[in-house]
Amino acid sequence: MIEGPGIVSTVAALRVRLAAVRQEGVRMGLVPTMGALHEGHLSLVRETRARCGLTVVSIFVNPAQFGPNEDFARYPRTFESDCAKLAGLADVVFAPSVPEMYPEGFATRIEVGGPAQGLESDFRPHFFSGVATVVAKLLIAVMPDEATFGEKDYQQLLVIRRLVADLGLPIEIVAGETVREPDGLAMSSRNAYLSPEERKIASHLNVVLRYVAKKVYDGEPIAAAEADGREALFRAGFASVDYVAIRDAGTLAIIDALEQRSRVLAAGRVGTTRLIDNLAV
Ligand code: PAJ
Repeated sequence: MIEGPGIVSTVAALRVRLAAVRQEGVRMGLVPTMGALHEGHLSLVRETRARCGLTVVSIFVNPAQFGPNEDFARYPRTFESDCAKLAGLADVVFAPSVPEMYPEGFATRIEVGGPAQGLESDFRPHFFSGVATVVAKLLIAVMPDEATFGEKDYQQLLVIRRLVADLGLPIEIVAGETVREPDGLAMSSRNAYLSPEERKIASHLNVVLRYVAKKVYDGEPIAAAEADGREALFRAGFASVDYVAIRDAGTLAIIDALEQRSRVLAAGRVGTTRLIDNLAV
């Protein structure tokens, strides 16, 4: 039988569990997640395991990053099967309760500017401060040598890089490539909300991103390619399109012409499910 990971639910127990290993100078890696684990998460865990002597996965559905009308209550929670998937991959699962992370009287929020501005923030105004606050707490609780985040949430990855640089945390931030379904749909815990018909529509998101990337690459002006992308998503059956944007890949700043490192990012709804994806141009 493959041994399952050790599960700890308090920061105090986590620190005790990690202290001896830290003393030995073993490289530690953290993969923060909200659970409902799929191959995308597991690829980050495998990469961490390949580089580190000790792999910690956190599972915490963070209320601070959900808006009042978002899906916090119905977000999938599959703790048992998550732990089974992590058997043989993670050494420690950190699964705190909400009061453990946000005890009575908790009154701090971390606001990141720069890459947090625009795109997701225009539609989810409290999202990145919720993410930054919880990720800072997770990083401080674990104090790993490295932490891995997926390019699937590209703006989030840049926000975390900014946060860690600005707070001077001595932690390397590693980017993991997006894992996709055979038809190109980026894996996401929220894909579970899609009906079979919606699932077909959702697969157009990455097709449209590739189409937009090719258009600008072939010389179409950025604004025109973005507009074509929006239209293509509506044609494919998207209920709404929040943005299709071509930005500087390092800062997410608006650009007038294609640069060496550009990124195309999009967000929209299929039915009531909000999906995001991005690609290098
Ligand atoms: P969650 O959506 O569970 O994602 C956890 C990590 O897995 C993130 O770094 C995300 O970018 C990565 N990920 C998700 N889908 C992926 C895919 N298809 N391929 C590769 N990586 C993928 O992102 C969050 O949780 C939260 O905001 C969190 C950072 C944990 C803070 O609460």
